[in-house]
Amino acid sequence: MAQALEHAWHEGQLKPLADVRISPLDRGYLFGDGIYEVMPVYDGKPLGLDKHLRRLARSCDEIRLPLGRSIEDITAALMAVIEANGGGNQSLYLQLTRVGLEGRDHRFPDAPQTHLFAMSNRLAPIDADAYANGLSAIVLPDQRWARCDIKSTSLLANVLAKQLASEAGAAEAILERDGELIEGATSAVGCVTGGTLALPVEDARVLPSVTRALTVEVAGRCGVPVETRRVNMDEFRAADEILIMSSTREIMPISDLDGAPVGDGEAGPVWRTLFTGYQALKADA
Ligand SMILES: Cc1ncc(COP(=O)(O)O)c(C=O)c1O
Repeated sequence: MAQALEHAWHEGQLKPLADVRISPLDRGYLFGDGIYEVMPVYDGKPLGLDKHLRRLARSCDEIRLPLGRSIEDITAALMAVIEANGGGNQSLYLQLTRVGLEGRDHRFPDAPQTHLFAMSNRLAPIDADAYANGLSAIVLPDQRWARCDIKSTSLLANVLAKQLASEAGAAEAILERDGELIEGATSAVGCVTGGTLALPVEDARVLPSVTRALTVEVAGRCGVPVETRRVNMDEFRAADEILIMSSTREIMPISDLDGAPVGDGEAGPVWRTLFTGYQALKADA
C-alpha cells in the first residue's frame, strides 16, 4: 500500500500533511472538479517535469480552470515538497481544484479560485524479480467518460476497475471499448508483435502518458520500431508481449492476460531492451 510522506503544500504554504484542512465546499471534494498529476522523483529530481506541467496546463484549459499562479510558482511548490520530504525517490502528487465557497451548485462559482495541493508518497522500488517473471492483468470494459485525455480527479470508474484487478490478484486492469485496446486503469498500454511496439492512438479516450512518451524516446534510441494506430483486442490477445507504462511503475511486462500466457508466458526481449533503456534515461535526466 502507498505510504504518504510527512510534508505537503496547500494554498501557498508548506505544512505537515496531517495539518492540511480542506473545506467540504471545495468542488474537488464535492464534484471531482479538479485536475491532477503524478510524477516520479529520483534522487530529489522529478522526471519529465516539463511534460507533466504541460499536460497539467492543457487539462486545466480543457475544463476552464485557471492555473491561478505561474508555472514557476507551481514548480517552486513542488520542489519545496520534495525537499521537505527528504529528497530521494518519491511519487509526487499535485492537484488543482475549483473552489467557490458559496454553496453546492453545479455551475461554476461567480468568483472561483483554484486551490493547489501537493504531497508525495514514498516511491516503491521496482520489484526486479517480479518484472523479470512478468505480471498478470485482466481485461475490463472501459466504463469511463468520453474525455479520458483530461487528467481529471474524477476517477471513480478507474478506482472500481483497479479494485477488481486487485481482487483478481492482477497488477492492472486493461480497458477496452468497442473491441479496441484503450489503456490501463492507471497506465498506458502497448503490445509487441514481430518486434514492433504498437501503441493505441492518443485520442479523447486515452490519457497522453508521459511514461509512454519517454518509452517512445527510448525505443528510438534502442532501435525498437513503434507504430501508433488502432489496436484491436484479438491482435492484443495474440501479441508476443504486452507492456504497461506509468510514472510509478515505469515499464512493466504483462505475461498473463485473463489467465492465459502472453507470448511464451515470460517477460519478453523488447520489454527487457526498453526497460534497460529507461533506466539509462533516468540516470541521464
Ligand atoms: C488512466 C491512465 N492512463 C495512463 C497513465 C500513465 O500516465 P503517466 O505515464 O503520465 O504516469 C495513468 C497514470 O496514472 C493513468 O491513470
